[in-house]
Amino acid sequence: MRLAYLLLPLLLVGCGESTEQAETNIGKETYLRYCFSCHQAGVAGAPSLGDVESWAPRLDKGRAALLQSVIDGIPPAMPIRGLCNSCSDEELAASVDYMLNAVRENARDAGSL
Ligand code: HEC
Repeated sequence: MRLAYLLLPLLLVGCGESTEQAETNIGKETYLRYCFSCHQAGVAGAPSLGDVESWAPRLDKGRAALLQSVIDGIPPAMPIRGLCNSCSDEELAASVDYMLNAVRENARDAGSL
């Protein structure tokens, strides 16, 4: 019994970490499944993953506006919900975060932004 009380805080800490990890994975998985086809290579003017130059002007809009662009789409080339009708807003937000993290990492390496 006493052992269980001692272990409880450790278990809770473990949970917190795995939730964060799970969110990162959802963003990556959603990206790879739905957004990759256009955003990896930059098809039809799509900003490519991690490309600082094409993302810089979009970053100024802020995360909320970028997420709204994904939910509404940008005619003609960016489809509504990035072609994932079954994705929740949270899954779309996670994939936007995944893309934003990729470009921020590259920008940091290049010493810009
Ligand atoms: C069919 C191709 C295609 C798919 C699939 C696609 N995109 Fe896009 N995306 C585009 C294009 C093209 C643009 C540039 C549109 C413009 O600025 O006119 C764009 C722009 C964006 C932007 C910038 C929006 C802004 O306001 O500047 C974000 C963020 C984005 N896409 C996220 C996503 C996410 C997340 C997914 C997957 C859930 C996704 N896209 C799937 C083609 C696509």
